[in-house]
Amino acid sequence: MKRYAIIVAAGSGLRMGSPVPKQFLTVCGKPILMHTMQRFYDFDNVLELIVVLHEDYRNYWNELCEQYNFVIPHRIVSGGRERFFSVRNAVQSIGEVDAVVGIHDAVRPMVSIDTLTRCFDEAEAKGTAVPTIVINDSIRIVEAAENRSVDRSKYRIVQTPQCFRLSLLNRAFEQEYDPLFTDDASVVEALGEAIHLVEGNRENVKITTAADLKLAELSLC
Ligand code: C5P
Repeated sequence: MKRYAIIVAAGSGLRMGSPVPKQFLTVCGKPILMHTMQRFYDFDNVLELIVVLHEDYRNYWNELCEQYNFVIPHRIVSGGRERFFSVRNAVQSIGEVDAVVGIHDAVRPMVSIDTLTRCFDEAEAKGTAVPTIVINDSIRIVEAAENRSVDRSKYRIVQTPQCFRLSLLNRAFEQEYDPLFTDDASVVEALGEAIHLVEGNRENVKITTAADLKLAELSLC
């Protein structure tokens, strides 16, 4: 079955106080987004890559591609005001009947080839696949002024790529936007579909803080 990857990179991501969104920051000699795309290319070099960018950064990205002589084939789709709309634009741009589509955060360059394999294979077989990892720390729930420990074995940390059959995604993204849609699994789940979990990899963090950036330097260099 044909495979697509939608790399969402249209967020402003300025929490680290950097002059450009974090997906464009340089780690080990090239922008994070290029590392992420390289992982997908290494996994499957005929998979079709769609990169979602904010309009304001299209020219900047073209300049980066020239500067770094970056030649991995991809096409660009414009982002929306929320992640939901960015993904929807990309899903609606796929003119295929049947395919498996993985949706991945641009700022997760450390996804492993094994995680990619598990996600795409499971989605092809069962329709949905989301990578998760178990929680090793103790966790507490905080409600108003109270807090109490909870059973950590009942919880999972959710990563990307979240992979789905295209037919499911097309239906899912016809729904009205809900602020509770924090990832793509929550959008597909709202249709009443079961979400199949596969094992992620612990290094597959979403680069958000300066500490994450240091981890990426260690892992990618
Ligand atoms: O903001 P957050 O870290 O949750 O963003 C996750 C991913 O979604 C990032 O890769 C970001 O670039 C992308 N995003 C997007 N369009 C938006 C908001 C976020 O593509 N409107």
